[in-house]
Amino acid sequence: MKYGFFDDANREYCITTPFTPLPWINYLGNDGFFGLISNTAGGYCFYRDAKLRRITRYRYNNIPNDIGGRLYYIKDGNTVWSPAYRPAETELDSYECRHGMGYTTFNSTKDGVNAKLTFFVPLGDACELHRLEVVNNSNETKELTLYSGIEWCLWNAVDDSQNYQRNLSIGELEVIGSTIYHKTEYRERRNHYAFFTVNTEVDGFDTDRDVFLGAGRAWNKPVQVENGKSGNTVASGWYPIASHSIKVTLAPGEKKSYVFQLGYIEVPRDQKWESKGIINKKPAVELINKYNSDAAFEAAFKALKDYWDNLLSIYHVESKDEKVNRMVNIWHQYQVMVTFNMSRSASYWETGIGRGMGFRDSCQDLLGFMHLIPERARDRIIDIASIQFENGSTYHQYQPLTKRGNADIGGGFNDDPLWLVACTAAYIRETGDTTILDHPTPFNNVEGSEKPLMEHLRRSINFTINNKGPHGLPLIGRADWNDCLNLNCFSEEPGESFQTFGPSEGPVAESVFIAGMFVKYGKEYADICDYVGLTDEAKTIRAEVEKVKTATEEFGWDGEWFLRAYDAYGNKVGSNECEEGKIFIEPQGFCTMAGIGQEKGFGAKALDSLYKYLVNDYGIEILAPCYTTYHVELGEISSYPPGYKENGAIFTHNNPWCSVAATVIGDAEKAFDIYKRSCPAFLEDVSEIHRTEPYVYSQMIAGRAAVHYGEAKNSFLTGTAAWVVVDITQAILGVQPTLQGLSIKPCVTKDFGSYSVVRKYRGAKYDINVIQDGSGKGLVVDGAAVEGNLIPAVEGKKEYKVEFYI
Ligand code: BGC
Repeated sequence: MKYGFFDDANREYCITTPFTPLPWINYLGNDGFFGLISNTAGGYCFYRDAKLRRITRYRYNNIPNDIGGRLYYIKDGNTVWSPAYRPAETELDSYECRHGMGYTTFNSTKDGVNAKLTFFVPLGDACELHRLEVVNNSNETKELTLYSGIEWCLWNAVDDSQNYQRNLSIGELEVIGSTIYHKTEYRERRNHYAFFTVNTEVDGFDTDRDVFLGAGRAWNKPVQVENGKSGNTVASGWYPIASHSIKVTLAPGEKKSYVFQLGYIEVPRDQKWESKGIINKKPAVELINKYNSDAAFEAAFKALKDYWDNLLSIYHVESKDEKVNRMVNIWHQYQVMVTFNMSRSASYWETGIGRGMGFRDSCQDLLGFMHLIPERARDRIIDIASIQFENGSTYHQYQPLTKRGNADIGGGFNDDPLWLVACTAAYIRETGDTTILDHPTPFNNVEGSEKPLMEHLRRSINFTINNKGPHGLPLIGRADWNDCLNLNCFSEEPGESFQTFGPSEGPVAESVFIAGMFVKYGKEYADICDYVGLTDEAKTIRAEVEKVKTATEEFGWDGEWFLRAYDAYGNKVGSNECEEGKIFIEPQGFCTMAGIGQEKGFGAKALDSLYKYLVNDYGIEILAPCYTTYHVELGEISSYPPGYKENGAIFTHNNPWCSVAATVIGDAEKAFDIYKRSCPAFLEDVSEIHRTEPYVYSQMIAGRAAVHYGEAKNSFLTGTAAWVVVDITQAILGVQPTLQGLSIKPCVTKDFGSYSVVRKYRGAKYDINVIQDGSGKGLVVDGAAVEGNLIPAVEGKKEYKVEFYI
């Protein structure tokens, strides 16, 4: 069953009912100001940091969980309705929500009135624009009252939801004309405020929530709206909100339009005040004036669309598979942008008050983002590297506002350092820019500790070399990619964090997954060394890679698949000898990608085993059989009921590893099959089972052992997005950035047929046609046959015509 449809021409998903199984959301904002918006206009917005600079309030564990957000009401006689269905929840005559690239629109009708609502964040400014257009399609004159509404968050979202004894006395506002300024705590240490305005004179306003709603009422039935009134209240303490009311008379056929703006302003500390107690509104007024007309609104909206046109023109495929085109050209790349911006901080599943940016998460997000805006990727790499410790290990997370490592979680996740190598190598492959390696980058953000980025990569690599266990495999520390495989934790008390409890290191527990990573990224590091002339170092590292490769072949292979780990007692994890958790997906993907045991056919066997034990209708599960009891020596992984999360769900992030792995051993059938199984567009028809948005990946889909088999959770913020881009655009369709230039190496099935790709790369445009005519002629560039897969780059050349014959 579907709840909408893809509109590819407009790059939108059109939702046709407010009653999706879960709120289906979108993101607004590009850099700085961000909003989450659901298909009933719920959600919230923030500046840079969803925890520390929350602008509007979101209520956790709410019922329904999507109430609040951007509140618009139309009072038409005795009927009050909302174009986004909520908050009024009045049945609509028609409803449509379209999530597009950085914007969301609603188009609804009730009793002959049509209302359109459009939401987006204009490029380069810290505000959300909301336009409400109303048209009278009836034969009578309509006397309507329009209401807007938002609820202010008192900035720190954690404090906001718990420190009531203080908070309920601190709310402060100013109202000037149609603009409501929220200035809580500005009187003391803050130098920022927010405002909500509309480009017309208003008939009234309310900022006191209790007055607006009335005693005992909720957002669906504010007493003021019911009575067609506004109290012109200026809240003091309690719950400050911002609501405008506008009376409008519409003749039959007449249309009116209003542009609302929700903005965020920072003021230099020495210019905070206009006069005693009165905030300096100059910067706000400038921003307000910038967007106070339909024309300005439309120009900004067009600029946003142009921005996305441009971004999505960097990689564009045309194949006969409509779903592949749709996902590659639109939604995969869009999701990658969202994960780049959010890491795992703010979604409808990540509260925005928990973790900030994850080290390994953000490094991996970059793998799929690199081609979109390499300059931003570069800055991010430096930010991430700056939280690394001198010994090469690193903080696991950092807060985007401060860019400091989070001390409460600390470090000790032994895969983390290697991801820095992965993303830096990808950056150089994309751009050819090796100057990033010279960038002075601090350790642990300590001023004066700066070393060239290359030194950070070196320490990452050496961290693994210096931290190996009894079998010569890398020690796991607190966990590797699988945050829930906690082999040194041994937690017995409820509530203890599996990730931080106990010592971070143990001298015995080893990870075959990190071994796979080291072999893959050790080689990439050595390639960089060669590329910049450090040939001796390249040799040394290749020798180290060889050691780990040999150790993995000897001690990390179980006969039919790769082992997962050795626990703190030296017992095998993920072996046929185990009762539960006999086989895990991660090392099959990574060790095969790394080419471990290639000559011995390990990869093919490992992938066959995945199909034998882990594959289900919607993807490949993370392990089998699921753990049915808690294993203190394994940690959080065994804490989940069977079939969920790391205990046997499809953890979508690692599915593309296996698809890429299949391309490494030349198995196009498996590569594409794995890609399709969990790909959202291919699951759209079972949206009632899947339940999350059909345009983006969710982190997990419950496995066969689960009560709710096939149900997805944790949509949007998952490393799957980036890895899928790597998988489909590079490994399967075969357009691969390398240090030396663009390489064409498709791994597609016969059925997939011929296709074309336009790729912009290092300042040139490549028109690539992959032609399946059975000739096997290979690469032809501008009419001339070329040996191998690499397109020879010609200085100053701007366009390449490329054919690749299979
Ligand atoms: C985390 C990742 C982790 C993955 C698997 C995600 O929730 O963000 O860092 O690798 O789970 O445990």
